[in-house]
Amino acid sequence: MEFMLDTANIEEIKNYVELLPIAGVTSNPSIVKNEGKIDFFNHMKKIREILGAERSLHVQVVATSYEGMLKDAEAILKNIDSKVYIKVPVSTEGLKVIKTLKQQGINVTATAIYTKFQAYLAIAAGADYIAPYYNRMENLNIDPRDAVGEMAKEIARTNSKTKILAASFKNVGQVNSALENGAQAATMGVDIIKQAFAMPSIKQAVADFTSDWEVIFGEGVTISSLK
Ligand code: G3P
Repeated sequence: MEFMLDTANIEEIKNYVELLPIAGVTSNPSIVKNEGKIDFFNHMKKIREILGAERSLHVQVVATSYEGMLKDAEAILKNIDSKVYIKVPVSTEGLKVIKTLKQQGINVTATAIYTKFQAYLAIAAGADYIAPYYNRMENLNIDPRDAVGEMAKEIARTNSKTKILAASFKNVGQVNSALENGAQAATMGVDIIKQAFAMPSIKQAVADFTSDWEVIFGEGVTISSLK
């Protein structure tokens, strides 16, 4: 299972890469917008430095034509590094781009997936990851559990190497359900992680353990300070 951060915020990435078993970082033009008018390539290189070579970095093209997307991909690979996963929205032009990039051996994440059909075509085009938009599907009355489940079945049926990188989450229940229905990876904003650990019962359990221990062994005494 791969947990990724859907953010381009350097501080958030630094912090959560230390805290959690993070497998990568994803972004798109809307996420980049939240950081203001950044020095784009340097910013992304800084993210790569924090991630190291083992974690994956997914950066989205902005152009919408076939030629434009290929040029964006080339610029990303040249100015960040050659291991970046190029995120390409699954439109008809996007599928052509995915096929071309895969013929060149480039890492590709097919994104903006709302339907099974988009996913099936992206799998056939050889995308490394497909990113179904979980919450946005739900908003459109498309059942994301069924969709992710069927995508997983299609991957198994076709013996494909594509992984499902579920995205667009508004709560931690959606993340669980994506993973339980067959997604190998999920990308989320740090708001989702904060929400998951804000549960008062978790804090209370830790406080109870401490106070029970301290009743017997004394305040501030931990296992390592036992004589
Ligand atoms: O990774 C996709 C994601 O950023 C879209 O999420 O929250 O805009 O639906 P959202």
